[in-house]
Amino acid sequence: MERKSGNIMIMGHPLIKHKISLLRDKNTGTGEFRSLVEEIAMLMAYESLRSLPLEDAEIETPIETCKSPVISGKKLAVVPILRAGLGMVDGILKLVPSAKVGHIGLCRNEETHLPQEYYCKLPAQLNEREVILLDPMLATGGSASAAVELIKAKGCKSIKFMCIIAAPEGLDVLAKAHPDIEIYVGNLDRCLNENAYICPGLGDAGDRIFGTK
Ligand code: PRP
Ligand code: URA
Repeated sequence: MERKSGNIMIMGHPLIKHKISLLRDKNTGTGEFRSLVEEIAMLMAYESLRSLPLEDAEIETPIETCKSPVISGKKLAVVPILRAGLGMVDGILKLVPSAKVGHIGLCRNEETHLPQEYYCKLPAQLNEREVILLDPMLATGGSASAAVELIKAKGCKSIKFMCIIAAPEGLDVLAKAHPDIEIYVGNLDRCLNENAYICPGLGDAGDRIFGTK
């Protein structure tokens, strides 16, 4: 994992890079695409949760009692941005099964490319939780910035945003709007095209995960 600047981390693990290449391929079908998104999310969670605090707990093994480290500190909440973020949830929950799950529904207007909110249901006591916000695509940065605002409005002070592919334009927008969050990126792509799609990207992540279109 390489620190790009400030709180922006770009994944360097060969397994993540390899799986992203498979994801990009237009011949990768829905089932395989869905599995890859889940696997990449799990690998990214493994990398980005390295800093979780530990505390010693007393454990009784079949041989003797010992002190052994367990995760301590803030409780986690996983929040996918609908629809495409849903594809990443199970990968994270495989590693942290006790995390609560919230949902934020945002849809980009096809002409203005601005996000429109249609749903928001977040776990209680977000001020005591660390949130992992999920969306495979960071394009203009509008959706991620709006989702972070909704989470902060509930009092959350600790947010990690995880995306599989980012455009430089969107990464810049998100980092400037929310310099206090950590941003984890699977791959930083070249640019946006005239329709605000990421190049080379992987197309429409939601459509590819759910087989719509
Ligand atoms: C896609 C993607 C992000 C957003 C990124 O969702 O999953 O949420 O676009 O674009 P932005 O950075 O320019 O805001 P979309 O709005 O297409 O909705 P969907 O997941 O329901 O297909
Ligand atoms: N949303 C996507 O799903 N893909 C893009 O390239 C941009 C926004």
